[in-house]
Amino acid sequence: MKSPAERKILVTSALPYANGAIHIGHLLEYIQTDIWVRFQKSRGHQCTYVCADDTHGTPVMLRAQREGITPEALIAKSRQEHMQDFADFHIGFDNFHTTHSSESRELTEQIYLRLREAGHIEKREISQLFDPEKSMFLPDRFVKGECPRCGSADQYGDNCDNCGATYSPTDLKNPVSAVSGATPVIRESEHYFFRLMDFEAFLQEWTRAGHVQEQVANKLDEWLQTGLQAWDISRDAPYFGFEIPDAPGKYFYVWLDAPIGYMASFRELCERRDDLDFDDYWKPDSDAELYHFIGKDIINFHTLFWPATLKGSGFRTPTGVFAHGFVTVNGTKMSKSKGTFIRARTYLEHLDPEYLRYYYAAKLSGRIDDFDLNLEDFAQRVNSDLVGKLVNIASRCAGLLNKHFDGRTVGELANQELWRELVNAEPEIAAYYEQREFGRAVKTIMALADKINATIANEAPWKQVKDEATLADAHQVLSLGINLFKVLTVYLGPVLPALADKVADFLAVPSLTWTDFDQPLLDHEIKPFIPLMKRLEQKQIDAMTEAAKENLQPAAEAAKSKPEADGQEPIKPEISFDDFAKIDLRVARIAKAEHVEGADKLLRLELDLGGDTRQVFAGIKSAYQPEQLEGRLTVMVANLAPRKMRFGLSEGMVLAAGPGGEELWILSPDDGAQPGMRVK
Ligand code: MSP
Ligand code: ZN
Repeated sequence: MKSPAERKILVTSALPYANGAIHIGHLLEYIQTDIWVRFQKSRGHQCTYVCADDTHGTPVMLRAQREGITPEALIAKSRQEHMQDFADFHIGFDNFHTTHSSESRELTEQIYLRLREAGHIEKREISQLFDPEKSMFLPDRFVKGECPRCGSADQYGDNCDNCGATYSPTDLKNPVSAVSGATPVIRESEHYFFRLMDFEAFLQEWTRAGHVQEQVANKLDEWLQTGLQAWDISRDAPYFGFEIPDAPGKYFYVWLDAPIGYMASFRELCERRDDLDFDDYWKPDSDAELYHFIGKDIINFHTLFWPATLKGSGFRTPTGVFAHGFVTVNGTKMSKSKGTFIRARTYLEHLDPEYLRYYYAAKLSGRIDDFDLNLEDFAQRVNSDLVGKLVNIASRCAGLLNKHFDGRTVGELANQELWRELVNAEPEIAAYYEQREFGRAVKTIMALADKINATIANEAPWKQVKDEATLADAHQVLSLGINLFKVLTVYLGPVLPALADKVADFLAVPSLTWTDFDQPLLDHEIKPFIPLMKRLEQKQIDAMTEAAKENLQPAAEAAKSKPEADGQEPIKPEISFDDFAKIDLRVARIAKAEHVEGADKLLRLELDLGGDTRQVFAGIKSAYQPEQLEGRLTVMVANLAPRKMRFGLSEGMVLAAGPGGEELWILSPDDGAQPGMRVK
């Protein structure tokens, strides 16, 4: 590595898919990367952070079709939303591009042609499931059927949720296309493969040369032991992506062009920036550093396929790939029904983005373990550390300094000891940031905050100012407090950039950068104190999780998983067991049924629940005569809120199935059921 002052660093975060909203799981990655980048920039390095939307593939194509728009319109809209979410979380990309760009297309073609030239591409026929109705080959995730091992129904084409078996979609029993509901057929097609095995020796070495975390290297060892297979990099039309040169109707698989999106984003930035040169960063012997921050689910793409692709096409390979774990909330997977599947936008409508940045930093390490966002601990931690310890120093000192000393600090600090201690902690804190041990950095910084608070409490400047004899002592401790607070803010600057800006403003300095962290403000006038951060209230978290529940967008969610067989209504969005348990279904006896005067669809029913009697107006007149119904058992929703109708109060609902008109059938339980029994 070059001497610190000369470093050129290019950093990326994984490219978010264009077909979904950013959520707090994604944010772990973007916040982690952004903190690291801000740290490097703050130290004066030429550090560049690029990203883009990952736009290609079948899901985007199908979603655009469903919404009745072009894929281009869909990805443009989602790019706007993503960029806004990132900006509001203070993610400071130097460029946020799109993989559907001319730079991406040119680089992808160039890389492919170089690989082909060097003999790393081969062609082969493969058999795949084909949807005869939609005229398209089906990706694994768009086929459902019965598991070939355990027979469990409704399993995806690649693996079984029930028994964990992995298989090929053609092994699935009674497969159904999730796109059209049709029964898929097996079809042959010619595919293009990247000969990953040509890079076995290179990868053996590369994965053991310090470019990946140890946990990752061990995992990769297992894969490398079992031998590398050629990687299928083509997909048949219809596909939203780039067509393969000299192969009409064949498209590059999204995962080939996705990481090339990192290069493309950087290339587009270079066109706007005189100080950056594309080749300087991407040539094989480049002295620039290249780092990819990713989640643990996409390790193989970044540590096997990607370095091999780069190597085979004459580009440099990554200096480091840094994987992180997955976010869980309150100890379990993020859940829509619990309101813990929280979108970036939902969070922002309720909470300060820096709370989350701080909590993520405070608990992050350089390892790939999963990350639990415990909402109670989150609130407690933010309040005690940021509000109780950090901001407290400034608010205590600034008020008194302004009131009694015209906001002016002393010309020389008397307590050099504490000042030295803070300044001397810099190499340790910087090393933690560098190693992505943000949790340790934060812990060290907060321990210093504790010391400062203790010193202030000990001196009690609020008492000292009352006595002429101790007035000078007060001036000293207040000036020290303000200066120590400045150092802490510099140390936390990569984590809390908005707070650091506010602090720079109130300290009346142009900015707070790491490079002048050890320069105290002497005989310097600060501005009146402004509130820097509010307490996080539990009710804000409650409101956020409530909103996250409501934010379920039935149409969009249902569309994701709807197998739309002909004439059938699409399956409604999934509900939790708790949601289901709220519906009280009861066996009811139709004690009385009669026509309603003036109503052309309704019958009035009196339903006996085994004691309790309910009146229900049911829209089944087109299918039943009242006398057919009297005495029959059926099933009703017994806890539906009563509805006032033109003809009277309807106190529940009877269950019936069918498209309507004469084709409507009320449900009846088998013999033996008694009125009032709960249906479970
Ligand atoms: N488009 C691919 C990446 C292509 S990179 C050339 C992708 N997109 S994604 O939107 O699904 O995920 C983007 C990043 O967010 C990935 O690194 C992924 O691991 C990360 N996360 C997505 N959900 C996450 C959590 N619940 N927790 C932590 N990180 C998560 O993968
Ligand atoms: Zn199974």
